[in-house]
Amino acid sequence: MKELEDNSVHLVVTSPPYFNAPFDYPGLFKTYKDFLTMMKGVAKELRRVMAQGRICCFVVDDMLVNGDKFPVVADVTKTMMRAGFRYRDKIIWIKPKGYVRISRRSGVILQHPYPMYFYPDNLQESILIFQKGKFDYSYLKQVSPEILEASRIDSKEFNSLGIALTVWDDSSGERNAVPDTWQITNVLPMKGRLEEGVAAFPDEIPRRLIKLFTFVGENVLDPFAGSGTTLKVAKDLRRNSFGYEIDVELRSIIAEKLGYNQTGLSDDKVEFVERPDAEHLRTKLQKIVRQKESVAT
Ligand SMILES: C[S@@+](CC[C@H](N)C(=O)[O-])C[C@H]1O[C@@H](n2cnc3c(N)ncnc32)[C@H](O)[C@@H]1O
Repeated sequence: MKELEDNSVHLVVTSPPYFNAPFDYPGLFKTYKDFLTMMKGVAKELRRVMAQGRICCFVVDDMLVNGDKFPVVADVTKTMMRAGFRYRDKIIWIKPKGYVRISRRSGVILQHPYPMYFYPDNLQESILIFQKGKFDYSYLKQVSPEILEASRIDSKEFNSLGIALTVWDDSSGERNAVPDTWQITNVLPMKGRLEEGVAAFPDEIPRRLIKLFTFVGENVLDPFAGSGTTLKVAKDLRRNSFGYEIDVELRSIIAEKLGYNQTGLSDDKVEFVERPDAEHLRTKLQKIVRQKESVAT
């Protein structure tokens, strides 16, 4: 991320390519070690570009590839800690009730109701939260009153999401909130949607994280920009953003998401820089996915 200055980024919200995910990134990495080596490089660069005390959020999940489970969540945690970040928190993102896995592994126990046939489907992902050192809260005194007010967290909104302070409600006998469990609808796999073949996360994930961890006007980075969800939400919330995406074929999708081609009243500036090391990935990956699908049907 040579274009970025040291200590210039206030928040990272990202989701690295799901290691060789059969329906999104089949064979993208030769080995799991290659994936981890790439993550090590990213972690090192993030340590350099992050401002002191600030937060990096990774949306990740362990991956099942050809029957073997790869411990991505644990390994990304270790990689970031080795690069010098503090491991601050983990939030579990629970997919909604209507979401089912294509594989339906959990159905095996119904066909074979005997011990050793239980294979749970995973209907969650982890949002890992890392921090570069500690945040100096006297920073708030340097922020102008207008920016501070514009960045104020709407506690009613976060209360209604069920992720604010947990208290026990004696009358209902229930907790009012589970702050580290976020119920968010995933991007639905509709044919022809903008994010097709990208494994995009829903706007709601960066929306919450950007509000919770940045002030208006600060810099948000997504080193694996995909369709540009983080960049778009940052723009909506009046934060600056930087994104890196290796696949030049996603450029028009990112442009569309950011409203780059629309002429309007907005004075937002969007700049694309195409590097010589850009790749053409989607056509290649989608061809492999289609071949897999035709074998499966
Ligand atoms: C899971 S997707 C991110 C999706 C994104 N959060 C969104 O909502 O659209 C990961 C992205 O990382 C990109 N990628 C893979 N290797 C990369 C690399 N070395 N540098 C930058 N981007 C990379 C992939 O092409 C893919 O678009």
